[in-house]
Order: sequence, then structure tokens, then C-alpha cells
Amino acid sequence: MKSILLLMGPNLNMLGEREPEIYGSETIEEHVKQAERVANEFGYKLEHFQSNNEGELVDQIQNARGKHMGIIINPGALTHYGWSIHDALAAFDGVVIEMHLSNPNQRESWRHTSVVAPVANGSIIGFGIHGYELSIRAFHKIIENDDQRT
Ligand code: DQA
Repeated sequence: MKSILLLMGPNLNMLGEREPEIYGSETIEEHVKQAERVANEFGYKLEHFQSNNEGELVDQIQNARGKHMGIIINPGALTHYGWSIHDALAAFDGVVIEMHLSNPNQRESWRHTSVVAPVANGSIIGFGIHGYELSIRAFHKIIENDDQRT
């Protein structure tokens, strides 16, 4: 199960059309392709799921147990108040990378809190579409180090 789950939350289906000056002009399909390309380079399979519904994201996180080595998650606005995402990730037994295209800390103050960060191994923020490569590299480093310890 050398596989990673890439999860995206509300409004990320609108990538390319939605505030391109903040999120870039690439569509969600292009984002997923980019992530898949890098994951495959590192020898991982990548599964992708986007939803505008919090509960569906929770279901995906629960179902990832024993199936995926890790989750890269951009929870969209749920980052800032989605406690059920926090709790589902806390119960997940693999690596969790939080990823944001923009840098929420440079934006409105309500975006400065992440309820996901405390249950993530780390966060990659503000690098746009390059964030997938950085996230997968970081994920791979964590897995490699874990292997060395066992
Ligand atoms: C986002 C940042 C969030 O604050 C926002 O609600 C999003 C996208 C990002 O990728 O920069 O939907 O997660």
C-alpha cells in the first residue's frame, strides 16, 4: 500500500476560475496531474478526492486507515473551523501533511488559525501548485526516516 490520499475541501473544485490571482490559473485536473506525477516519481500511487461537504471528507479520512500511508490535505476554509476533520485526522494512523496554495497567514485574520495543523506532521503553505511537490518530498522523508528506525 505505497499510496497517498490527496484530499481537497470546499471550493477547490473551482480552481482555475476561483480568484486566480490568489490560487493560480491551473484547473483542479492540472493540480491532481501535478501531484500524481511527483507521487509516481517517488514510487507512490496517488488517489484524489475533493468535496464541498465536511462529512464526506471525514468518511474519506476514516476509510484511509490501513489503506493509505499518508494524507495530503487542503481542507479549504474548513482548515479554520472544521473540528470533525481535526478529530478524523487525529485518529488516522499514517502521515498527515497540511497544504495550502496561498499563505493564509498573510490574509484575513480568520484564516490565521488552523485546526488541522495540530494533527499534521507539518504544513506546506504559500507555494501554489509547487506545494504538491514539496508536500510529497516531505512525506517521503518522513516515511524514509520511519523505515530507518524499524
Ligand atoms: C486555502 C486557504 C483557505 O483559507 C481558503 O479558504 C481556501 C484555500 C489555500 O489553499 O490557500 O479555500 O486552503
